[in-house]
Amino acid sequence: MTLALEPVVPTTVPATLNTRVPLVTGESVEYANLDHAASAPCLAAVRSALDEFLPWYASVHRGAGFASQVSTKVYERTRERVLRFVDARRTDTVIFTRNTTDSLNLLARSLPRHTSVVLFDTEHHAALLPWRGTDVHRIPTPRTRLAAVSAVDSALAACPEGPRLVVLTGASNVTGELLPVREIAAVARRHGARIALDGAQLAPHRAISLRELDVDYVAFSGHKLYAPFGAGALIGRSDWLRAATPYLAGGGATKNVSEDGVVWHSGPERHEAGSPNTVGVYALGVACEQLSADWDAVTAHEEELLTRLRRGLAAVPGLSELRLFDDDGDRVGTVSLVVEGYEPGWLAAVLSAEYGIGVRDGAFCAHICTRRLTGGQQALRVSLGLGTTAEHVDRLVLALRQITARGARWTYGKPDGRWAPTPDPREVPPFLA
Ligand SMILES: Cc1ncc(COP(=O)(O)O)c(C=O)c1O
Repeated sequence: MTLALEPVVPTTVPATLNTRVPLVTGESVEYANLDHAASAPCLAAVRSALDEFLPWYASVHRGAGFASQVSTKVYERTRERVLRFVDARRTDTVIFTRNTTDSLNLLARSLPRHTSVVLFDTEHHAALLPWRGTDVHRIPTPRTRLAAVSAVDSALAACPEGPRLVVLTGASNVTGELLPVREIAAVARRHGARIALDGAQLAPHRAISLRELDVDYVAFSGHKLYAPFGAGALIGRSDWLRAATPYLAGGGATKNVSEDGVVWHSGPERHEAGSPNTVGVYALGVACEQLSADWDAVTAHEEELLTRLRRGLAAVPGLSELRLFDDDGDRVGTVSLVVEGYEPGWLAAVLSAEYGIGVRDGAFCAHICTRRLTGGQQALRVSLGLGTTAEHVDRLVLALRQITARGARWTYGKPDGRWAPTPDPREVPPFLA
């Protein structure tokens, strides 16, 4: 399979391309999905791989039937695909989960006793919150990447003796900025600490190498990686995971159950009790392989559109972008912004209702981060991906210019606590009606 990236949209993301959405004016337009950071559409290659696999779908691991054996191979082989995707070490393991949140919670439940956890307070809640009951050292994120590295250094130096884990996002889900992962991993090593990478926002945009970054764990979600079928992964060193109490108790995680007790598996199955999501796992593996086939094309597409977007946004009166760092550095195609005098939720509603554009508004499950960068407000987030076209970007920029110049053309209210067109004449698709 190859990742056909030229042209990107028609071949890889038919779901977005062919989706027309109604406007309040009665017309319909092609949906401009600028919300990839929340969830990305399904790659065409993933969809066709699933079409091929579904007739063979059957129970995994314990079925004697031929289709069960095919399904088991699909499931187990995907472990290798996913390990390759992150350039894992020979001894690393992969545990299939539901998503990044699930993966990081699993890791949190697997820490040795008295582990100290060091993290920035601007992390996504999925990385910020699972460590309850642990000795957590939350560092306010400094304004430069260099200072961020020093801040981790100092925090680790102040940790008590014992196991230590640094938890770090690869790319901010609020600003798209990349964190200095390699440098922070080097600091962690000096202190004998491990490092877990929240790859939710990085994995869809950049190749990740656990070896090169010298990172111990990475977590990511299929639904952000163009495989929206409910699977995610935690990949990394197996020792803590092997020694931990099984994350879920139930069938599949056990070797033997008797009146006298339970013998749990020591491999990845230990934490995968219950019938696994074979379809989601396969989809995740196919997406991993597709993206790995041509990272240069993935990043070139995104960088071109990101430049176009930021240039366009710079010309919108009163608009400012949120940034974690004062120093310029690499970033993925996610931009959060505020427009002076406009509520982000209202803007998002107008963009959807009058322009057919999907963006995110709010605090993006990173409340501390968003509030700090906006001075206590919320923001609007625009995020690009393989489904984005230049027309989507231009439409957004034009829309923001028109809205700020002449206001909305419809009336809006908060019927259910969120901004929405009132009335809203848009009809849902027939299958929902
Ligand atoms: C940086 C980051 N980490 C973790 C998550 C959680 O991902 P999921 O909702 O798939 O568990 C997200 C989701 O937006 C994210 O952006």
